[in-house]
Amino acid sequence: MKALVYQGPGRKAYQEHANPTINAPTDAIVRVTRTTICGTDLHILKGDVPSCQAGRILGHEGVGVISEVGTAVSTFKAGDRVLISCISACGKCLYCRRLMYSHCTSGGWILGNTIDGTQAELVRIPHADNSLYPIPAGADEEALVMLSDILPTGFECGVLNGKVQPGSTVAIVGSGPIGLAALLTAQFYSPSQIIMIDLDDNRLAVAQRFGATSIVNSSDGKAVAAVMALTAQRGVDAAIEAVGIPATFELCTQLVAPGGTVANIGVHGKKVDLHLESLWDRNISITTRLVDTVSTPMLLSTVNAHRIDPKLLITHRFKFDQIIEAYETFGNAAQSRALKVLIEA
Ligand SMILES: NC(=O)c1ccc[n+]([C@@H]2O[C@H](COP(=O)([O-])OP(=O)(O)OC[C@H]3O[C@@H](n4cnc5c(N)ncnc54)[C@H](O)[C@@H]3O)[C@@H](O)[C@H]2O)c1
Ligand SMILES: [Zn+2]
Ligand SMILES: [Zn+2]
Repeated sequence: MKALVYQGPGRKAYQEHANPTINAPTDAIVRVTRTTICGTDLHILKGDVPSCQAGRILGHEGVGVISEVGTAVSTFKAGDRVLISCISACGKCLYCRRLMYSHCTSGGWILGNTIDGTQAELVRIPHADNSLYPIPAGADEEALVMLSDILPTGFECGVLNGKVQPGSTVAIVGSGPIGLAALLTAQFYSPSQIIMIDLDDNRLAVAQRFGATSIVNSSDGKAVAAVMALTAQRGVDAAIEAVGIPATFELCTQLVAPGGTVANIGVHGKKVDLHLESLWDRNISITTRLVDTVSTPMLLSTVNAHRIDPKLLITHRFKFDQIIEAYETFGNAAQSRALKVLIEA
């Protein structure tokens, strides 16, 4: 089969690769019909994710059709159309029983990291019964590709952890795919304000179309004053960090109102300061989370019912043999204006 293989920092190749086989009776093999590229794949390519070694097929998002199942798989059979979760989960270990699938002792985020991923014609999915979701008849499969990772991430790490409520005020720092996913799913709760903050006017314009009540370009260094002016000098009940750098985390701690929550989504590779000297008396909470994808069934229902349309995040489409071009487009988002690139078999 063909696959996109990580070849060590800065290098990747679209090349011939051996087909995956069933290793454990709980595995399934899925023929990938649609996949995409995540910002995390770019992090791997930069060499930021040491657990991912050269020779690994990248990708942790996608939909497809089951081609083969192990003898212990009971929920799915060959021919079933499925959504692949970025998190593999046994459903039985201590963490899975606490619905922390991301910390499954024999799963978690392994796909396209420590085992071969979805940017291939075929992928092996471990713990298939609990890591795949059936695609309902008539569903829009392009939209569902957004449910493998970015929608549950924005919703679980941002909206749920940020305790977004009817009437509450929300600021989302970072208007990339993840921040926009948080923006879309925050609206389930009817907050009174959702202020989107970014350096990129194009992404802020997208945020406005997606339902932001205000947009703030923070490149002038005056985002705190702008948010205070929008919230009667209170700050926001939920400050959601969707970038992953020290400056944006610190910004969130300056934007949060007394009693509010800083919900961190971003993957941080560098030391970040926590200014307890100015936060200790503000009754705030700070949350962190690796996406668990426990909200996937709920998100599937809301997408199928047209309550939200994550397909709006797709800006570019490629065939699988154009995946190198897809990486170039996605990696050059400032010029290409890419959000999510859809890659089709
Ligand atoms: N916690 C999890 O489970 C999880 C899962 C997936 C992704 N992530 C992380 O979420 C983060 C966001 O992902 P993404 O794909 O949307 O990333 P992205 O890089 O596409 O988007 C980040 C956005 O932040 C903006 N930005 C950069 N510097 C800024 C600054 N100083 N001030 C304001 N805005 C700034 C950029 O213009 C961009 O629009 C990444 O760190 C990613 O690794 C976390
Ligand atoms: Zn991802
Ligand atoms: Zn488990």
